[in-house]
Amino acid sequence: MKTVTIKEAYKQWANRYEEDLPYLFESESEKVIPLIGNVKNKQVLDLGCGTGRYSIALAKKGGVVTAVDFSDEMINVAKNKAKKANVDIKFQSLDIKKKLPFPLKKFDVVLSMLVLGHFKHPEKILKKISKILKPNGICIISTFHPQKEGKFALVQSLGLDARKYKQSKEEYVEAIKKANFSLEKYLEIKFPKKIVVKAKKDGVNLEPYSHKPFLMVFKIK
Ligand SMILES: C[S@@+](CC[C@H](N)C(=O)[O-])C[C@H]1O[C@@H](n2cnc3c(N)ncnc32)[C@H](O)[C@@H]1O
Repeated sequence: MKTVTIKEAYKQWANRYEEDLPYLFESESEKVIPLIGNVKNKQVLDLGCGTGRYSIALAKKGGVVTAVDFSDEMINVAKNKAKKANVDIKFQSLDIKKKLPFPLKKFDVVLSMLVLGHFKHPEKILKKISKILKPNGICIISTFHPQKEGKFALVQSLGLDARKYKQSKEEYVEAIKKANFSLEKYLEIKFPKKIVVKAKKDGVNLEPYSHKPFLMVFKIK
């Protein structure tokens, strides 16, 4: 297996990223969208937006969305999808390891879904988020659960690997504290039965992966 930089991995994955993970994304978003709540006219930032799954869903719900990512290829897929969906999103290409170019306390909602698992020290990003979030704003992050069964989809799809970390819930709770956030809600996401049944009809057997959670989601304030 070849290990590549994170940027290179998403450059190669961009065009099939969403096709590779339909059941995972459906199981995740049906739990996460209600957790985010009402975004109408709210300032929303999607950090590491990828192909825009959440940016587009939240713009459709009336959020004023800024979406950033350091992969131009992932952003291009997102831009095309946004155009087709007829939603207006401010896309920006940037590396979130660098200084975030946003005013203090600008956002009501900051999301960073499936991104922080690429960072050894998630608290560094969380500290930056805490500065640009309004005092009563919310932040939602998700990352793979250390108990997740099966191979990383990138490995399965392209035979490529990129840097990622498998921190525990406790390590994330610690990172959340260090960034002066408090944990409002924690979810562990598994494939629900209806998705296992749906996948089976499509000829995909999720049964062996359906007993343990594959994702951790943290809502923090
Ligand atoms: C697994 S994808 C998640 C995309 C999207 N949030 C979602 O849930 O589908 C991880 C994304 O993080 C982006 N990313 C990783 N490191 C980054 C960095 N340092 N700066 C900006 N984006 C980064 C990648 O380019 C990729 O689009």
